[in-house]
Amino acid sequence: MIPLDAFDLILFGGSGDLAMRKLLPALYFRHRDSAADTGRARWRIVGVGREAQTREAYLATVEAHARKFIAPRDFDDTAWAAFVSCLDYVALDARAAADYAGLAALLADDPARVRVFYLATAPSLFASICENLGAAGLVTPDSRVVLEKPLGRDLASARRINEQVGAIFREEQIYRIDHYLGKETVQNLIALRFGNTLFEPLWSRACVRDVQITLAETVGVEGRGEFYDNTGALRDMVQNHLLQLLCIVAMEPPSSIDPDAMRDEKLKVLRALRPMSAEEVATRTVRGQYRAGAIDGRPVPAYLEEAGIPAGSRSETFVALKAELDNWRWAGVPFYLRTGKRMQERLAEIVVNFRDVPHALFPSVSGERAPNRLVIRLQPDEGLELHLMAKVPGDEMRVRPVALNLDFAETYDTRQWDAYERLLMDVIRGKLTLFMRRDELDAAWRWIEPILDGWEQDPTPPRPYTAGTWGPAASSALVGRDGLAWLQDS
Ligand code: BG6
Repeated sequence: MIPLDAFDLILFGGSGDLAMRKLLPALYFRHRDSAADTGRARWRIVGVGREAQTREAYLATVEAHARKFIAPRDFDDTAWAAFVSCLDYVALDARAAADYAGLAALLADDPARVRVFYLATAPSLFASICENLGAAGLVTPDSRVVLEKPLGRDLASARRINEQVGAIFREEQIYRIDHYLGKETVQNLIALRFGNTLFEPLWSRACVRDVQITLAETVGVEGRGEFYDNTGALRDMVQNHLLQLLCIVAMEPPSSIDPDAMRDEKLKVLRALRPMSAEEVATRTVRGQYRAGAIDGRPVPAYLEEAGIPAGSRSETFVALKAELDNWRWAGVPFYLRTGKRMQERLAEIVVNFRDVPHALFPSVSGERAPNRLVIRLQPDEGLELHLMAKVPGDEMRVRPVALNLDFAETYDTRQWDAYERLLMDVIRGKLTLFMRRDELDAAWRWIEPILDGWEQDPTPPRPYTAGTWGPAASSALVGRDGLAWLQDS
């Protein structure tokens, strides 16, 4: 790993779910695997929470969670002890300016270090935290702030947050995180597209028939009922993760991997998204909500029976939609996006379906003809598959689809980094490439907002689907109307 400058990482929401489940384990791995000096003089992490508790009590809670979220084979007692020697705890009420004095006292010994303020809290606290950090003189020239999603509920609230944070931090100090951009396969998609000549000539409307991006989960709302019900799948997954993946698939080659070169190209994609009229929202989007069903043979309750979900809630746990880009490269190519909770499988993949050959020369085995297809799988097993037609061994000239498979776990016999490991290191190094710029966020909300409005005005509730399936039948019909099918339906 490239050595890091000495840093202080201040984790607001330090006792929260994200810190316990993802951020602290990610920091443990980077600390454990670093060959450079990782002593307290170089690495210092400060968990910040409301609860008044001792450092020891905090460390005990962190360890109890870490033992759940880090595989036993990766949990090394010596490495853990070295990691937590860098970990402190400060209790403060994020809205109380006077409480920041304790944090200021702790950080005062080395103000020249890189300082990262990670806001893993409700976005309603972002403005107060930034204001209070500024007032306490904690924002040094080498400070950065990391903002977790959701950044707002709509365009206006996202703008308000950006303005409030922007009053204290310069744009180059603001890291808007979308953890999907830190996933190994997303990095690999960038490498595949811009590190090879093979795909670029095919990567356009001339050869691509449609693109499908699916982020399917088997989990339900996982104890986050109240948050989720206020958010829904469109804001939770489409506005950020799905649109960012679409950007990576559809963007023009940037002139470099400098942050602004990449982000300029992603912004052009977001701006090329064709806005949906109210009628199009009705025909090009499908929202669903799960009913009781079974996942892996085990019964699971309906969304409306989950803890924290108000009776009669109309929040969507599933979205499928058809997006189109108004530009030369992609005009007329549908991008189908789909996400849902309590689906049949946990699956995140991008499917690029190429056009069929103009004239079929060879008979296929029992009708098994398939145009070429590239499948980029983000999870559960990360890899790439290229589906080609090949001759079946034997006398006759008959063809059938076969897949060239690149399985990353098999090819690289190393533990895959979690997305947060990479992104946290990027923040400390000051690398903004994988973080969203303010204008990107604006453009994403601008496209999402008519969908939110269209749904708001539509009296029909979300379509029901049985937990453990691929969502409402209307989702298959959405793609079927174009004479196509989701990969799982074909
Ligand atoms: C988060 C959403 O951003 O992404 C969650 O808020 C979702 O609802 C999660 O479960 C999925 O992330 P991953 O990395 O597990 O696919």
